[in-house]
Amino acid sequence: MKSILSGQQVDFVGMLHELVELEFDAIEAYKTAIDRVVDEDFKSLLIRFNEQHERHVVEINHILIARGVEAVKGPTGKRWVIKGEVMLGQAIDNDKGILKVMFYIEEDTNKGYETLCQYKIWEEAVEILEQGLKDEQGHKRWLEEILDNWNDAE
Ligand SMILES: [Fe+2]
Repeated sequence: MKSILSGQQVDFVGMLHELVELEFDAIEAYKTAIDRVVDEDFKSLLIRFNEQHERHVVEINHILIARGVEAVKGPTGKRWVIKGEVMLGQAIDNDKGILKVMFYIEEDTNKGYETLCQYKIWEEAVEILEQGLKDEQGHKRWLEEILDNWNDAE
């Protein structure tokens, strides 16, 4: 029997578009976080993660274009506001708060990739999506570890 998922009419293009939008929104949040974080080690880490997000956008858009589909050009700008998860304004006034917000964002990027990785519809997308999931799992794990080991008594 053929895989149920691949046999169904799935709006794979729409899902990829949403994933790239999610990436763009994450990049916007990362830019703000990088700007505001004080600790230089955290800053370098966030810069490295953000570079991976930027690479994901390029790679997935590349696939879309090669398939004759329109690429995603920018963030929606709505996602985090709606979810109330990112208080990228005054609420973030310390490194821990910033990293916490980025952790929530990475929970979403992880979910996004986990979902997309179930659909092996375009052969050329499989490896890129799986690598993307690994990257995102790494980001989430790093942030989680830092937050878990945070010494509030400092
Ligand atoms: Fe990430």
